[in-house]
This record gives sequence, C-alpha cells and structure tokens, in this order.
Amino acid sequence: MTVPVPVTATETGVLRLPDQVLFGAGSVRQVPTLVAPLGSRVLIVTDSFMADTDGCRLLVAGLRAAGQEVVVFDGGVPELPLDVVDEAVGAAGPHAPDVIVGFGGGSSMDLAKAVALLLAHPGPLSSYYGENLVPGPVCPVVAVPTTAGTGSEVTPVLVVSDPERQFKVGVSSPYLVPRYAVVDPELTHGCPVTVTAHSGADAFAHALESLTAGRRTPGWGSTLPVFVGANRLGRTLALDAVEAIGRSLARAVHTPGDADARASMAYASLTAAMSFGSAGTHLGHAVQYAVGAATHTSHGLGVGLLLPYVLELGKHVTTTELLLAADRLDVPDAPDAARVHATIDRVQEVLLDAGIPRTLADIGVARGDLAAFADQSSGFARLVDNGPVPADRDVLLALLEAAWLGDRGRVAQAAVRS
Ligand SMILES: NC(=O)c1ccc[n+]([C@@H]2O[C@H](COP(=O)([O-])OP(=O)(O)OC[C@H]3O[C@@H](n4cnc5c(N)ncnc54)[C@H](O)[C@@H]3O)[C@@H](O)[C@H]2O)c1
Ligand SMILES: [Fe+2]
Repeated sequence: MTVPVPVTATETGVLRLPDQVLFGAGSVRQVPTLVAPLGSRVLIVTDSFMADTDGCRLLVAGLRAAGQEVVVFDGGVPELPLDVVDEAVGAAGPHAPDVIVGFGGGSSMDLAKAVALLLAHPGPLSSYYGENLVPGPVCPVVAVPTTAGTGSEVTPVLVVSDPERQFKVGVSSPYLVPRYAVVDPELTHGCPVTVTAHSGADAFAHALESLTAGRRTPGWGSTLPVFVGANRLGRTLALDAVEAIGRSLARAVHTPGDADARASMAYASLTAAMSFGSAGTHLGHAVQYAVGAATHTSHGLGVGLLLPYVLELGKHVTTTELLLAADRLDVPDAPDAARVHATIDRVQEVLLDAGIPRTLADIGVARGDLAAFADQSSGFARLVDNGPVPADRDVLLALLEAAWLGDRGRVAQAAVRS
C-alpha cells in the first residue's frame, strides 16, 4: 500500500458543485420536491427515445401531480448539433419555464444547460464559446443522467457541434453547474452496450486525467480559470471513481442487468466529474477533438483509447498519483517504477475488457494523418496546458505515434525529452 500523502502548507483545492447532489436507486422521485421552490413551470429537455421510457413518464407524472405545468422538448440529438439548441430555445420561449430538467445522456443535459443559458442571456450561443464568458446566473437546471460517463450533471461545461467549426466546441463557466444533480442508477439500466462502454471509458479518462493534471497555484486574487489543475479536493473523488470503474466497467458492459455494476458506474461517473469539473482534463481530451472529427468515433472511445499513452507520457511527474491509483486498482506491491508500469497496464486492461480498441490504427487512422492531428491538438491550449508535462507539437506527435503503433515505450522516450 502507498503511504498516505499528508496535507502540506502548499496544498490547494477548488470544487464547484450543484447545491444538492442526490445519488441512489429511486432518487429521481425527489425531483418534484427539489423544483417546488424554484417555480411552477418546468421544461423537460430530452431525446425522443428517452421521452418514451418509464423513467421519463414517472418524472412527468410526478411533477404534474405536484402541480407543475410541464412541457417536454424531446428533440435532443447525440453530440448536440447547434440547430437543436435554437429549436429547444424556441420551444421553451412561450412556456417561460422557471426550471429546466435535463433528462438523458450528456447530449440532453448539455442541451438543457444551453437552453438555460440562452433563456437568461442574449444569443447566439457562439458568443459564449470558450471560458468564463457567461456573464451571470442562468435559469436553474436539474440534471438527471441516464448514461454513466459524461458527468455533465455536475460540471461547468457544455459541448456542441457547430457546423461552422471543424471541431466540437464548448462553453465553460461556473454558472453552468446545474443547480441540482439527481443520479438514479436505475435510469441507466437500458443503456446500450456501446454507449455503456464508451461513456464508461470517458469517466475513466475524467478520473485519471483530473488526477494527473498539472499542479498550479491558483491566482487567488483574480478570476480563476475554469480548469485549475490537479488539486487536493478532487483527488479522493477521482480515486473513488478509478476504483469503481476498475471493478465494474466490464461487468456493466457484458452483464447489462447487473444492478450493482450499473450503480457503481453511475457513482464513478459522478465522482470523476466532481473532480474534473474543477481540476480539468488534459492531453487525451485535446487529442480526441482532432481524432474524433476525422474518424467520427465517439468522444468516450477516443479518450479511452488514448488514456494509457497519456498516463505513460506524464508518469515521471505523477508517480504519487499513479501509486494511489495502483492501490485502488489492486495492483500488487512492487518498486515504484514497476508498480506504475503495472498500473498503466491495468488501466489498459480495463479498457480492453470493455471493448475499447488498443490503437489508432485499429479505428482506421492512417499514419500519415498523425502530423495534422498533432498540429490541431496543439490548438486546444486550455487542455494541453493543463497536462502534467509541457507538450509541444513534437510531444503530441510522439503521443499519437505511440497510440497508433500501440507502443507505450515510444511515448515514454518523448516524456523524458519533454
Ligand atoms: N458537459 C460535460 O461535462 C460533458 C463531458 C463529457 C462529454 N460531454 C458530451 O456528452 C455527449 C455524449 O453523451 P453520452 O455519452 O451520455 O451520450 P448521448 O447523450 O449522446 O446519448 C447517446 C445515445 O444513448 C441513448 N441513451 C441514453 N441513455 C439511455 C438509456 N438509459 N437507455 C437507452 N438509451 C439511452 C440516447 O437516447 C442516445 O441515442 C457528447 O456530446 C459529449 O461531448 C459533455
Ligand atoms: Fe470527456
């Protein structure tokens, strides 16, 4: 076991969370009680599949029984195209909702956040792309996830696909943290195998990237960046997520009816996002923007595939964090370097067991595309600069080469040079 790391005088921490976070089977039945003080008109934002589930019907019936006027917008679409945001804002207008309930996966919860933003502040949404540009509070959001992975129910982030942009684009602001998060694992039971695997891999990347992000002393006298880097308050949450995912991801994928595995993944998604919502993610998320745009593979598949290589790149400065993760992944005791190596092996094994491919070649990337991906990834400075080591274009190219070949040793050599 790793010796506990004491809190020192230089330790810092930032957590930004909803006013209440509820977790547990049946917790969705609390939503009417939570929204009652916020007003009497509710807009539920979801997609057509989820609108037709027992969970959604129960939610609508419960709210109506509590006297709420409820309108359901069920036009949500995966990866959140920008025109859907406009459509949802149009549908919300005449209803003048007091509260927005986002019910579904990350796409529906992000849509709820976008509607809440545009009901409170003038559009277009693009004027808020980037960080800390939302000028003030938004319409209250209650976020109810039905997938286990994005953690959008607690994060200050929304992500959209804007046809005018080559890559997906985000709005990041503490004002986007939902007012309440209600995580009822039973809602994830019907989640398809691929969504379970990819969103679970995303949660693993959130946990391990936030754990191994760069350490910076916040400038307490000025506006904080949304992603402040690895910090003490998120660490235990991230480690709890690592442990839960190590034990449960493969079971949730291969035995979809396993209620314990589903609950464990819902918990992991939540705690990983509590950590990354302030600590941030880094290199895998930066590189996935480029890989995902070119290959049309999902966010979770990309960040999961890249994760072992990203950990390899930073391992010489994140040994403490990776040894803490080793304990949570039941990696046997060994000298530090060997145990860190075995920990990254174990991370890769968890991902492979869930069906995440090992290499970029496996998902159809041509080796000749890697240089362009390195150039493009360098542009996501907010993420690249949050990494554990400086990563210029050459380091990113080494990371991509290693991930294409499935050879972690190559990225270790680049790390020593960086
Ligand atoms: N805001 C954030 O902090 C954050 C973080 C990571 C990712 N994201 C974004 O989240 C989106 C991905 O979200 P996702 O992975 O949750 O998937 P999703 O919301 O895109 O949903 C994928 C599909 O799964 C279906 N689905 C969802 N729950 C189901 C259930 N319980 N049973 C059956 N089908 C179900 C949906 O109907 C949809 O067809 C991306 O746009 C990504 O960029 C946001
Ligand atoms: Fe992610």
